[in-house]
Amino acid sequence: MHDILNLNIVLFQSEIESNMEDFKYFGFNEEPDYTGYVGPSGEYDFMGASQFRLFCTLGLRATHKLLDFGCGSLRAGRFFLIYLNEGCYCGVEPNKWLIEDAIKYQIGQDIIRIKKPFFSYNNKFSLDEFDTSFDFILAQSIFTHTGINLLNTGLKNFSKYLNPDGIILATFLEGESDTEGDVWEYPKAVPFRPSTIMQIAQDADLVATKIPWYRPRQTWYAFAKNKDRLPTPSMFPYLKGTVLFDPEHRASW
Ligand SMILES: C[S@@+](CC[C@H](N)C(=O)[O-])C[C@H]1O[C@@H](n2cnc3c(N)ncnc32)[C@H](O)[C@@H]1O
Repeated sequence: MHDILNLNIVLFQSEIESNMEDFKYFGFNEEPDYTGYVGPSGEYDFMGASQFRLFCTLGLRATHKLLDFGCGSLRAGRFFLIYLNEGCYCGVEPNKWLIEDAIKYQIGQDIIRIKKPFFSYNNKFSLDEFDTSFDFILAQSIFTHTGINLLNTGLKNFSKYLNPDGIILATFLEGESDTEGDVWEYPKAVPFRPSTIMQIAQDADLVATKIPWYRPRQTWYAFAKNKDRLPTPSMFPYLKGTVLFDPEHRASW
């Protein structure tokens, strides 16, 4: 049995009917492996690569410090680890087995020895174990599982650990209502209203914008302390995340 920490795992009773088909891929009828726990197993490659491509498009270089919050089974982390310099990749992930399996089946101990990532296994949305601040913070499919209080705590803590010219990228399920309280719903995705996301960003002393980077089922938002670090509408044509020649991702064309 995997040691699944404090997760309120609910089966597929999503109020958001259009997501039902997608969630079938999660395979939660039986214990998921490290690829299926973080999303549809068949998307493990694409979802990781897409995050890496987004960050490179937004200026990620090898010397930048990156926090991958809720890094899971290093779906994106495996690309960042190869690319970034030693000590530049940090992850938060309460389910330690996901990282262990990713090391075992995807990247090997040599990458860990060479790149020296730092992982925090806390589930409190705390970054206090880190003795560095970050140029890039990633929260992919994290606030799609939280109530509003955890979103609030998360963005405030990100803001505290973000460099003045840093940028945060996070995905949301946009909806017409908000998800209340301290809940962590999984794997069901839960919504926030766009106006709520903007208000919570403001409360965390951040400016925010939605960006058009292609992401099935969810929407990317960027947050920064400095408004000049946010992508502007004139940059949006470069931020499409298009995947050519793959009919599965025709919606991105
Ligand atoms: C949908 S997965 C996304 C994983 C990763 N960001 C990716 O895109 O592959 C959500 C992740 O959040 C992790 N998680 C659960 N509770 C958490 C918490 N309190 N703080 C940080 N991550 C958490 C889960 O274990 C899981 O790996």
